[in-house]
Amino acid sequence: MPEAFPATRLRRLRRTPAIRRLFREVDVGLEHLVQPYFVVNGKGVRRETSAGSGLWQLSGDVLAEEVQQLHRAGVGGVMLFGVPDAKWDQAQPLAEPLHEYLEAIALTRRVTPEVVLMADVCLCSLTEHGHCGVVEGQHIVNDATLPKLAELAVLLAKAGVDFVCPSDMMDGRVGALRAALDEAKCQDVGIVSYAIKMASALYGPFRAAAHSAPAFGDRASYQMPAHNRREALRELMLDVDEGADLLLVKPAMSNLDLIRDARERTLHPLVAYQVSGEYAMVRAAADKGLLDFERAMTELLVSLRRAGADLIVSYDARRRAGLR
Ligand code: PBG
Ligand code: ZN
Repeated sequence: MPEAFPATRLRRLRRTPAIRRLFREVDVGLEHLVQPYFVVNGKGVRRETSAGSGLWQLSGDVLAEEVQQLHRAGVGGVMLFGVPDAKWDQAQPLAEPLHEYLEAIALTRRVTPEVVLMADVCLCSLTEHGHCGVVEGQHIVNDATLPKLAELAVLLAKAGVDFVCPSDMMDGRVGALRAALDEAKCQDVGIVSYAIKMASALYGPFRAAAHSAPAFGDRASYQMPAHNRREALRELMLDVDEGADLLLVKPAMSNLDLIRDARERTLHPLVAYQVSGEYAMVRAAADKGLLDFERAMTELLVSLRRAGADLIVSYDARRRAGLR
């Protein structure tokens, strides 16, 4: 009798929808997703930077309502970026320009006590120069930035967030934040560290929404070059040593290998940030009729889970939860 050929038939595992469902290895549910929001001053403000961009600017009252809806729908959490009208002048305490933003956080916390709130820690949206650190001349000064980031983290913690998320890429910031939070008796507030953050062309739409584009130069002296895998792993291990609770990698789809590296080399929960430019690419292609938005987006989100991400920060979370 001739031997059966092919001996292995993987198509047996794909024969029907029910069979395919049974052997599915990873999934993306709302519980894995975190929705970013840009929090602005005022009342009743609710605007998307452009139709379908996924970048929403909300005032505190609207934010509190929307976050409650998202939480009830089962979305994993939200990540907040404060975009105050008045920029911070370096002689001033940060609490002054951030007054309305901090109130918005406290209100959101009161309206939905159980929701997971994360908040960005960085200076770029707060400063005229738009850089992520303190500037002297043309130089972004590392060590002088750390106390400011720590001050910001403590304000956010006291306003009611569960996690602070330093995205500035200064050296030593995770340790500085941990020490300041503990000192302020906020030892239960966690740190989501932007451990691997590339200097990327994919942040354009975000910078418009967050009013955070640098007024001179670029961020290459603090954000990572996309070319360097070993350096990325050093960034990762450093933040682990300094006490990060979760590790974040961004952009997401151009760094799948590093998400996998992080999964294999650490035991921490991992976050992938599908950034504004990634979202915009899919949106633009779909708007041109080149692909199906829903299917393309699902495929990209699945790839992040498969690479090893526990959570995904994505502008698609609220849309997936049925919000319009
Ligand atoms: C600022 C910050 C940026 C993003 C998150 N935090 C932009 C930047 O570094 O210029 C990008 C997120 C996105 O593009 O969706 N520290
Ligand atoms: Zn920044």
